[in-house]
Amino acid sequence: MKRLLRMNDYKIMPLSIISSLNHQQIDQLVTLYSNEFWCDTRTYSDVSLMLENTDIVIGVKNGADELVGFVRVLTDYVFKATIYDLIVHPDWRGTGIGTMLMDSVIKHQALKNVDHFDLNCLPEMYLFYQRWGFTTELGGLGFMRRFHHKD
Ligand SMILES: CC(C)(COP(=O)(O)OP(=O)(O)OC[C@H]1O[C@@H](n2cnc3c(N)ncnc32)[C@H](O)[C@@H]1OP(=O)(O)O)[C@@H](O)C(=O)NCCC(=O)NCCS
Repeated sequence: MKRLLRMNDYKIMPLSIISSLNHQQIDQLVTLYSNEFWCDTRTYSDVSLMLENTDIVIGVKNGADELVGFVRVLTDYVFKATIYDLIVHPDWRGTGIGTMLMDSVIKHQALKNVDHFDLNCLPEMYLFYQRWGFTTELGGLGFMRRFHHKD
């Protein structure tokens, strides 16, 4: 994976939050996806379409405009907001960007009235998400999926 500007550059290369991605940043997101087993087959064209149809996109870019973190939300703005694809560039992990992205979702003005924030994750991520009050104690409620085999 291409090395980006590192956290040592943090002070001269400040991070900022973005709500849409340019072409280069979409490319960088596809590269981030390609490193994770749960999304490593996503293509540029599918990711572009996905972004167009996603309610809330939050990215973190460094001072060189490179995408270093990403999360997205699908929501009805009333009852439900489901968080997907939280991901931080490997060079930037452990610098607080994951926290910044989750804070941005939970405190997002457009989501201030939703009843539930939902997400799916592996058990090793439970501790991380518990920081924002996420729980697995849902009265036996579980996660179901139907795999859609496209022609
Ligand atoms: C999970 C991920 C987004 C965290 O991002 P990050 O920028 O490294 O997180 P932060 O720097 O904000 O870390 C905040 C805290 O969470 C902790 N943390 C990070 N990953 C954790 C994990 N998997 N489990 C438990 N705690 C974790 C950090 O140790 C840190 O603790 P501290 O505040 O005591 O130092 C990042 O590791 C990542 O991109 N992983 C690969 C993609 C992925 O698995 N995403 C989750 C999909 S459900």
